[in-house]
Amino acid sequence: MSAAGLVVVRDVAALRAAIAARQDARPGSVGLVPTMGALHEGHLTLVTHARAVCAVVVASVFVNPTQFNDPRDLAAYPRTEAADLALLEAAGCDIAFVPAPSALYPAGFATHVEVSGLTEVLEGALRPGHFRGVATVVTLLLRAARPTHAFFGEKDWQQLQVIRRLAADLLLDVTIVPVPTVRDAHGLALSSRNARLDATARAQARALPRAIVAAQRAFAAGERRAEALEAMLQASFAQEPAVRVDYALVAHGETLRPVDVADATTRVLLAAHVQGVRLIDNAALGERIDLGTGGD
Ligand code: PAF
Repeated sequence: MSAAGLVVVRDVAALRAAIAARQDARPGSVGLVPTMGALHEGHLTLVTHARAVCAVVVASVFVNPTQFNDPRDLAAYPRTEAADLALLEAAGCDIAFVPAPSALYPAGFATHVEVSGLTEVLEGALRPGHFRGVATVVTLLLRAARPTHAFFGEKDWQQLQVIRRLAADLLLDVTIVPVPTVRDAHGLALSSRNARLDATARAQARALPRAIVAAQRAFAAGERRAEALEAMLQASFAQEPAVRVDYALVAHGETLRPVDVADATTRVLLAAHVQGVRLIDNAALGERIDLGTGGD
């Protein structure tokens, strides 16, 4: 827990005042952890990383309406503010920024941030407007908190690349810190959406890390042809017919463009539906996800 307890603020002026007050007591860097709430161990790991690096730690909890292209998805998104605030305090966060939509998008708001190229593939191709919403709100959050560091999970790999690009292009003067994906004992990446998986679906969802590991093993055994590695992903998913795959690809880790010949930094990127819940996952071919005892 942070020494002075968690301060909760709901507009930009109060956020900046709270940061300034904390900096008086504890001068130095400011870390921002942007979240949409429904916090789990993955988010708390971001806070722990921020706490280790920064003098003042701010987390935002904001279900950003502009990044949902399906209004039903926005309505169904879990909102657990009281529990989130308790978890943030226990994790050592100093300030929680919990704005209403009108605090970030006041009447007359008319500016959007569009990152071209990176946003046109994978998630961007399937969820039109999603990354425009993400890029816009992340820019707003970075301008509101003016952090020296901002922490993002590698689970949303494409989002991380988009945010790196926009921070560099817009001279935002912030260090974007990537934090490795947190996984359960079977290798399933933690996600707020996992709360919607029952025991059967959760077991089926292990098909995602299993497919990645199939490609990682083939890579470790010498396979370098992207086409062959992608065929392996499909073959692995074929073992779990209840999972409907949106995409299962290998791509350049930074540009996200297709490659012919893979190397250790080439990324496996997956999106799939498990009993109505859409999950994403990714890892580098040169890594190895731990699938626990169920993996082999
Ligand atoms: O990754 C998320 O939770 C969101 O996309 C983010 C970065 C908080 C922006 O709303």
